[in-house]
Amino acid sequence: MDLLLIGPPGVGKGTQAARLRQALGIPHLSTGDLLRRHVAEGTRLGAAAAAHMRRGDLVPDELVTEMALDRILGPSCAAGVVLDGFPRTPAQAEALDAALAGHGRRLTAVFHLTAPDRTLLRRLTGRRTCGDCGDSYHLDTKRPRTPGLCDHCGHRLVQRADDTAETAHARLAVHTRQTEPLLERYRPTGVLHEIDGRGDADDVTRRLLTALGRGAAGSSAFLAGGAGRL
Ligand code: AP5
Repeated sequence: MDLLLIGPPGVGKGTQAARLRQALGIPHLSTGDLLRRHVAEGTRLGAAAAAHMRRGDLVPDELVTEMALDRILGPSCAAGVVLDGFPRTPAQAEALDAALAGHGRRLTAVFHLTAPDRTLLRRLTGRRTCGDCGDSYHLDTKRPRTPGLCDHCGHRLVQRADDTAETAHARLAVHTRQTEPLLERYRPTGVLHEIDGRGDADDVTRRLLTALGRGAAGSSAFLAGGAGRL
């Protein structure tokens, strides 16, 4: 089962992808997380990507596509994957469709998550992430047990460099201009589901599972400790 979460920055793709991973037992692939790891490790790819990410622009297709497809076609994703943040351009989508088809796979479902801009901006500017394990928190809706420290590994929480109000606005504009047109690629294929990303994270997870035909049966294990309503 290959699933794609598509939607503006802050709509909850990462939050929901982690829950789908738990519910469905398939891995979660975030190109944003992979790129941030390259930047932190100072790889050549990271050095080439860093300035684009700081500005809120997309990283060029040729840098991202190979990195993503390597994972998607690799052994860890052989039974399927929850894609979060890839593809983001028509060229990336074409490369993904061709690569999946070459392995007898296709996207099972594409979920388009939406929320008003004011909600997205509050989610982005209030987000704090663990500088070590990458766990995600929010100043209002998902506070750590000890202020400023990760519940999971105890490391310090930091604000992502691209979560300032100015860069968040730029990222929203980039999404509208470069990524939203992808929806017209998926709409005619019958795999596209429009999902309301408002409300608390549990509500959104239920909507996703219902669209997948899974209902919320047996979901209590991963419908716990989620982000509050925003
Ligand atoms: P990436 O890391 O993918 O960022 P993004 O798409 O902008 O998405 P975010 O991670 O900001 O938000 P999200 O939708 O995952 O929300 P989250 O669940 O965290 O990409 C970063 C950069 O990398 C890009 O700008 C680009 O430069 C580059 N890049 C990545 N992929 C690329 C590609 N394919 N091609 C080119 N460049 C690429 O939630 C946000 C906050 O809200 C959290 O604090 C969370 O706790 C809270 N929250 C979530 N859901 C709820 C809820 N229902 N109620 C209340 N709070 C909630």
